[in-house]
Amino acid sequence: MGLDQETFDAVDAFVGETLVEHDEALRGALEAAAAAGLPEIQVSPPQGKLLQMLARLQGARTILEFGTLGGYSTILLARALPAGGRLITLEANAEYAEVARGSIERAGLGEVVELRVGPALETLPALAEEGTGPFDLTFIDADKVNTPNYFAWALDHSRPGSLIVADNVVRGGSLAEAASADEATQAQRRLHEMLATEPRIAATTIQTVGSKGYDGFTIALVDAS
Ligand code: SAH
Ligand code: DHB
Ligand code: MG
Repeated sequence: MGLDQETFDAVDAFVGETLVEHDEALRGALEAAAAAGLPEIQVSPPQGKLLQMLARLQGARTILEFGTLGGYSTILLARALPAGGRLITLEANAEYAEVARGSIERAGLGEVVELRVGPALETLPALAEEGTGPFDLTFIDADKVNTPNYFAWALDHSRPGSLIVADNVVRGGSLAEAASADEATQAQRRLHEMLATEPRIAATTIQTVGSKGYDGFTIALVDAS
């Protein structure tokens, strides 16, 4: 065993089998996504469980998610909500959204989750106008070039104590490459520069290995807003 993908996969499989319970609805969501040909880029089961635990720790009653895909992370997060809690999830791809809607319904979360279809930058203004939020937890996991934009919006729609988590920030280590030609990487660097000068936020980034390779997430706690 060593620092290779095979080992990362084996450990995630072991942790998944021992610590991450998967009922019919979660299995069904993964199966429906695979059957419909969606890319298999959802959070890994151990990562999903962490998100769910963060939402519980947070006592989150309102959650905002950028990037629904087939609804796997959506279902995990929505299950952390207390009675009366609400989750809004934003998805650009109408076909993915249809698959997610079915899985969310089968999970019994149709009344808890609101899925809005369209590029998030186009669906956010209506959310703002409707006065949704503040969100206790925001999970940013959509198009990576827009992560800093989504972060700024989430911060404006947070309250002191809100948590904002952004996935896919480390990107195989390219986060450390100032001269990276990858726009998604440059966006994560801008996110960090923005956080560095943002007095309302305490933040850190944790590198991860696992079934999704070498990546990492940024986690930010809103101190005051
Ligand atoms: N959170 C999901 C995975 C999301 S994958 C999970 O862990 O289960 C990223 C998703 O973001 C894809 O479904 C993609 O279609 C969506 N996406 C891409 N660009 C977007 C945009 N501009 N607005 C909203 N969603 C977008
Ligand atoms: C991709 C998106 C993700 O959210 C992720 O966790 C991994 C990969 C992608 O678009 O390739
Ligand atoms: Mg992701």
